[in-house]
Amino acid sequence: MPAAFEKQSYWHDRFASETSFEWLTSSAAFMDVLTPYLQHIPNSAQILHLGSGTSDLQNHLRRWGFLNVTNIDYEPLALERGQQLESNQFGDVRTKYLVVDATRLELEEKFQVAIDKSTADAIACGEEDAVSSMAKGIWRCLDDDGFWFSLSYSAWRFEHVQDLFEVEVISKVPTPRQKPTDPDIFHYCYLLRPRRQFPGQVCRGAQTSS
Ligand SMILES: C[S@@+](CC[C@H](N)C(=O)[O-])C[C@H]1O[C@@H](n2cnc3c(N)ncnc32)[C@H](O)[C@@H]1O
Repeated sequence: MPAAFEKQSYWHDRFASETSFEWLTSSAAFMDVLTPYLQHIPNSAQILHLGSGTSDLQNHLRRWGFLNVTNIDYEPLALERGQQLESNQFGDVRTKYLVVDATRLELEEKFQVAIDKSTADAIACGEEDAVSSMAKGIWRCLDDDGFWFSLSYSAWRFEHVQDLFEVEVISKVPTPRQKPTDPDIFHYCYLLRPRRQFPGQVCRGAQTSS
């Protein structure tokens, strides 16, 4: 049976013993891909980090100078692990950690940047429209000129959200081969920009939670 990546119980059991793990690629390598974009974003920007898990991405964002980082995950143990990783690195915790289901985002705040590393992948393992629900929530809480960066193993991850976002692949990151004869496999770094030009029409579905 494949792992139930969409189920909170899977992550709860996993994080009971896992204190640190990076999906798809290291946070340092992900930050390298994002650097040309992040360098134009002020350090005061509000950043939403979705499905933080036991990654240390928040530490890299903080080291860059971003302190207004809100880390969300639906599994409370992930947030404990995240705080521990930040505290181990900096001696204190200055970014925010909130238990939130990313498919039911109802955040009051507006964000300049949303960022997820393989969280949309986990969510895609669930109900068919789960990624669309995630996208609608992000669309609602992103600034008009905001960005959503997502790293995914799928070349088709955001096919169904193009009414809400302009979707661009900004990097195809080759994965290491085990054998010289292995096929090329990539991870895809997406940049999604909210479409706002027809707020009453194209995005009506995003005005209410689904
Ligand atoms: C594949 S892991 C990625 C973790 C981390 N971003 C990384 O790169 O290592 C998926 C993460 O998303 C979280 N997650 C899955 N579904 C979620 C949901 N509906 N709402 C919030 N978090 C979710 C899981 O608890 C897990 O921490």
